[in-house]
Amino acid sequence: GADEALRELLLGRIVDVPDYPKPGVVFKDITPLLADPEAFTALTEAFAALCERHRVDKIVGLEARGFILAAPVAVRAGIGFVPVRKAGKLPGATLRQAYDLEYGTAEIEIHAEALGRGERVLVIDDVLATGGTAEASLQLIRRAGAEVAGVAVLMELGFLDGRARLADALGGAPLDAL
Ligand code: PRP
Repeated sequence: GADEALRELLLGRIVDVPDYPKPGVVFKDITPLLADPEAFTALTEAFAALCERHRVDKIVGLEARGFILAAPVAVRAGIGFVPVRKAGKLPGATLRQAYDLEYGTAEIEIHAEALGRGERVLVIDDVLATGGTAEASLQLIRRAGAEVAGVAVLMELGFLDGRARLADALGGAPLDAL
């Protein structure tokens, strides 16, 4: 069906790079997908369809690759885009959330006034790996007073169990991996 054709198109434009950025890790390079207007457009349309299905009011994109994917979806769907950035990059008053990495911790931020109370927010990113980044972004959305409409990613690395880690933060909202 249409979903299978989209999946094949997208998978054909994602390149596995072994031992990057370090030995034993297989990096998923999406730059060939971004360079192919047919694939990038199909991906954008698929994300935009999810915005309609989940009645999304605002899109949050996660730095940095999430920005590239989320911004055209916001334009296509006719809704606003809000960046979640690595700490220290946003000029206004922010909410900050720490989360665990394999070694150590990281922090992300959102502008405190960027989301309206009760607004339905969809998080868009390229990859769900351990789920730490997405989980922290959902915590920011709730702390900002908005509602979680879901998380949508291009790829989910199933073996890392990010879906299970996200379950509480999703609170029943959908996680879609295209
Ligand atoms: C990658 C990816 C996701 C996150 C997924 O971002 O784009 O945002 O890691 O990992 P997790 O599910 O284990 O949290 P990265 O931090 O490499 O940033 P970049 O997009 O700026 O390269």
